[in-house]
Amino acid sequence: MAHDYSFPQELLTLPIADRISYFQQYTMAHPKLLIAAEKLKNAIDNPGFFSLIFLFGPTGVGKTTLLRRITQRLLASFHKEMELDKGFIPIANIEVATPEFSNFDWKDFYLRALGVLQDPCIQLPSYGRITNLKLKTSLEAALKHRRLKVFCLDEAQNLSKVASGRKLRDQTDCIKSLANLTQVKFVLAGTYDLLILRNLSAQLCRRSLDIHFERYKVENEEDLKAFRGVVQTFQRHLPFEEEPDLLKYWDFCYERSFGCVGILKDWLSQALATALLDGAKTLTLSHLKSSAYSHEQCMIIFNETRLGEKQLEFTPDSSALRIALGLESHHGSATHSTSQTTNTTNTKSRRSTTGNTKPQRRPVGGGENVG
Ligand SMILES: Nc1ncnc2c1ncn2[C@@H]1O[C@H](COP(=O)(O)OP(=O)(O)OP(=O)(O)O)[C@@H](O)[C@H]1O
Ligand SMILES: [Mg+2]
Repeated sequence: MAHDYSFPQELLTLPIADRISYFQQYTMAHPKLLIAAEKLKNAIDNPGFFSLIFLFGPTGVGKTTLLRRITQRLLASFHKEMELDKGFIPIANIEVATPEFSNFDWKDFYLRALGVLQDPCIQLPSYGRITNLKLKTSLEAALKHRRLKVFCLDEAQNLSKVASGRKLRDQTDCIKSLANLTQVKFVLAGTYDLLILRNLSAQLCRRSLDIHFERYKVENEEDLKAFRGVVQTFQRHLPFEEEPDLLKYWDFCYERSFGCVGILKDWLSQALATALLDGAKTLTLSHLKSSAYSHEQCMIIFNETRLGEKQLEFTPDSSALRIALGLESHHGSATHSTSQTTNTTNTKSRRSTTGNTKPQRRPVGGGENVG
């Protein structure tokens, strides 16, 4: 099947390490990545309105890969401006660190952010007297001075790791105020734990945008087709003498990756290394099995993923808002439009609305600390 193979055939003459590195570096533009990338690009290009962009999805779906792709594209599109003004940085990226102790470390955050902006014009206070406020002011100045357009915070769910619900509110307020003061768009990327932050305040939601980077779901016909396409494309880029027939095992690929392309990719990289070191000409089911996540590991990751997805599946029915505002009665009739509606029915229906336990504005209950 060598004629169908998409990797550079000369790779086969190179050392094993080069072949592995080729596959590790290979990035595929698959449909779910392209959908999320398009939304992110539009939100970034849209001047003004969205100051916070939440990008969330399951672990291993490819969020970091998407940020990298967007960063490269934006840098390329501003290439000329950057040549003319060496101090201009259109986009920067940091990973929000997991706090060592249970509380989020703002000092570490500011220093990392200042580190990627490396602004020679900003005088940092001497370390001994460094305060969060001074660092925040320095960061504001650096963001403005660099004329940054977009700041991507990867693993942003770590921002929610604070000791109390009240502090959680401060976390989002702090990012929001940085965005407002500097006119920089902040992309907060992370797992579904990020929803805790995004649900926090109505004001925050008004100027924020959600982008859900989903996995492929087997119950959806189109997703299934696309996932099989992903498996086939990876198959063609695995640098073996003989093209493996991964498509034959697509359901096993799905079983241990649950439709997350990044998990599948890391798994295949591992299997490729094992097979090449074995001197194998192609990838077999036994290589796949020996490199896969165990059932237990899969169950843990999958349950966590489902939990996140379920939070997003809740959609309040369209009349919930109208009922809450008193525009509509519980039974769907407009409270003010019909002359037959008596005062008694009105009072009744309002009372029954109060007793309605359905959450009506935000799909996920926030405010609790997860850290
Ligand atoms: N479209 C893709 N094509 C090829 N490889 C990919 C693609 N998307 C992700 N990968 C690879 O899969 C692995 C996991 O992807 P990535 O780190 O982007 O996922 P993530 O969603 O950020 O995961 P986490 O939540 O654990 O941070 C990485 O090795 C990455 O290079
Ligand atoms: Mg990541």
